[in-house]
Amino acid sequence: MKISVKVPATTANLGAGFDSLGMALPIYNTITIEETVLPGTGIEINVIKNDVLDDLSLEHIPMDENSLIYKAVELLYNSIGQNPSELKITVQSQIPVARGLGSSASVIVGGLMAANELLGRPADEVALLSIAAEVEGHPDNITPAFVGGLVMSSLEDDGRVIYRKLEWPQEWDITVCVPDYELSTDISRSVLPQEVELADAVFNAKRMGMFVQAVNTKDAELMKYALQDRLHQPYRMKLVPGLDKIIENLKHEENVLGCVLSGAGPAIVIISQKNNLDKIKSIVKDTWESLNVKVNIMTLPVEKQGAQIINE
Ligand code: HSE
Repeated sequence: MKISVKVPATTANLGAGFDSLGMALPIYNTITIEETVLPGTGIEINVIKNDVLDDLSLEHIPMDENSLIYKAVELLYNSIGQNPSELKITVQSQIPVARGLGSSASVIVGGLMAANELLGRPADEVALLSIAAEVEGHPDNITPAFVGGLVMSSLEDDGRVIYRKLEWPQEWDITVCVPDYELSTDISRSVLPQEVELADAVFNAKRMGMFVQAVNTKDAELMKYALQDRLHQPYRMKLVPGLDKIIENLKHEENVLGCVLSGAGPAIVIISQKNNLDKIKSIVKDTWESLNVKVNIMTLPVEKQGAQIINE
């Protein structure tokens, strides 16, 4: 038996929603799991590069028992008292790796859904989300990869992920800018402080409230405040040279609602109202090119569909 699951890319945080807000995007990885017939062949993981960028490196995708996909599949098998064996896992990778677009979440979610199907669906959505968030460590990429759309989610102390979907205003464009270098999430999280000032925590708490209200009421003025952050972006600026200049240069564009780091970076996401995309793109391109950074820029809609089983 062979099961394939198509999983969207995601952008997480969206400013103040660190480890909570995330949105699915129409770039996909397809994860296929196949039971192999020969006993003792163990688990084989292959990655086929099919990316939207020309220069994608796959060296950061571990293909052995250390891989996130293996851990996720193993946890699912263990949850029903079994161990995985004799599986061939193939990842057809379109999502850029180590750029902040949820490539690890996509393989975790895809691997889990495919393995769950192979096993006769022992786990429900709650159980799968819980395993996926445990493996990834935070739910903000996992949840929209799983259910699609714009989602706020929380990994609770009991291991459950609670989430609610929000409706993204059609009027607001999402422009994803992917630089030509990688930044691992581990490195990007290592620069974050263990404790923050109360004033910074309050700053972000206010902005999470603003984000929900701004999206629900299509309030562009409020969204300009909502997309600000003091919990992660200031610390990560040094890992993404040029981001401060891009934010500064975009400040003068009245249709720009905000410029945020996509997940742990280094990709960035610009939220704007219609009609000034060429200007926005040239500001990003010129700023990064002046620092010898090439950039791939895509304006994308929200992907409303989450991970789905497909017949290949
Ligand atoms: N919320 C996560 C972070 C997303 O910013 O580190 C990356 O996986």
